[in-house]
Amino acid sequence: MKVNFPHVFRPITLRSMTVRNRVVMMPMGSDFAGHDGELSDEHIRYYELRARGGTGLIIVENICVKYPEGSNGTTQLRIDKDSYIPRLFNLTEACHRQGACIGIQLNHAGASAMSSRIGMQPVSASTLPSKPGGETPRPLSREELEAIAKDYGIGAKRAVNAGFDLIEIHAGHSYLISQFLSPTMNDRTDEFGGSAKNRSRFCRMVIDQVRAAIGPHVPISLRLSVDELVAGGNTIEDCLEYLEYLQDEVDLFDTSAGLNPTIQYQIDANYLEDGWRAYMAKAVRDRFHKPTIAIGNIRDPQVAEDILARGMRTLSDWAGG
Ligand SMILES: Cc1cc2nc3c(=O)[nH]c(=O)nc-3n(C[C@H](O)[C@H](O)[C@H](O)COP(=O)(O)O)c2cc1C
Repeated sequence: MKVNFPHVFRPITLRSMTVRNRVVMMPMGSDFAGHDGELSDEHIRYYELRARGGTGLIIVENICVKYPEGSNGTTQLRIDKDSYIPRLFNLTEACHRQGACIGIQLNHAGASAMSSRIGMQPVSASTLPSKPGGETPRPLSREELEAIAKDYGIGAKRAVNAGFDLIEIHAGHSYLISQFLSPTMNDRTDEFGGSAKNRSRFCRMVIDQVRAAIGPHVPISLRLSVDELVAGGNTIEDCLEYLEYLQDEVDLFDTSAGLNPTIQYQIDANYLEDGWRAYMAKAVRDRFHKPTIAIGNIRDPQVAEDILARGMRTLSDWAGG
């Protein structure tokens, strides 16, 4: 296998993390967490088996940095208290024993939380819902945003104490940071709305808090909806523009796509071709020259090898067969 796919099995080092190959398990809500936000034994076993299978880097599903308002579901992991550290440590140990690196995705759901579950009006950039027909959220003040950015930092520090090798910040998929980045959910007129620089300001605050909390050795990954694929939403060009303000201190771009109304492109419908959205990863990598994860129905290892070997296929490459 290693002989056939030399690019896939080439190690990569980001700050103090060396990953044995280019195979990344994307963050995926597993529904294995308890209602108290703890990892279950089943959960640990599930990730350990992926590590044993040879995955280079596992990025654990989105974990809640601020509870209850940032919560994304009744079976979502939490990292808003120190008491979660011991079981998270058991998880990182289990995966490290199998030779894998392990990161975790920090998240605040913002307007994608449900008031019936969190017991209050969901919060966001503005009053625009995060999906058609969704609840009307309450816009956050600057003071509240500073406090939430600190919560990301505190969560990141807990994750590093629990042994995680990488911190991923979820800035896509219609969650709180994405609610600031996307003009479809942000109609603010203050320093957090309007221009690309303003819409990226909250994300910049989060990245800075995370870096300050974890120090210089642990890599940061930024998960993006590169092309939101919705009318009036960010296109690839818009994403490249706001990334100018965000790329500092980011070591890895995790190039997802889509928002709530375009979920078929976010959790790739089966009919989409293998590697169909690698061109988004290419656009980000070509602009910023940093390691970038390509995503999207990469079911055939030869497709992964080709994407890496050719520096990512473009849409026209695909059209040409
Ligand atoms: C059940 C499920 C849960 C998911 N949970 C998350 C998540 O917690 N965070 C996230 O950024 N993406 C999430 N995703 C999107 C995946 O990370 C991934 O980008 C997408 O499924 C495409 O994966 P693929 O490259 O294997 O086709 C989820 C997808 C599925 C199917």
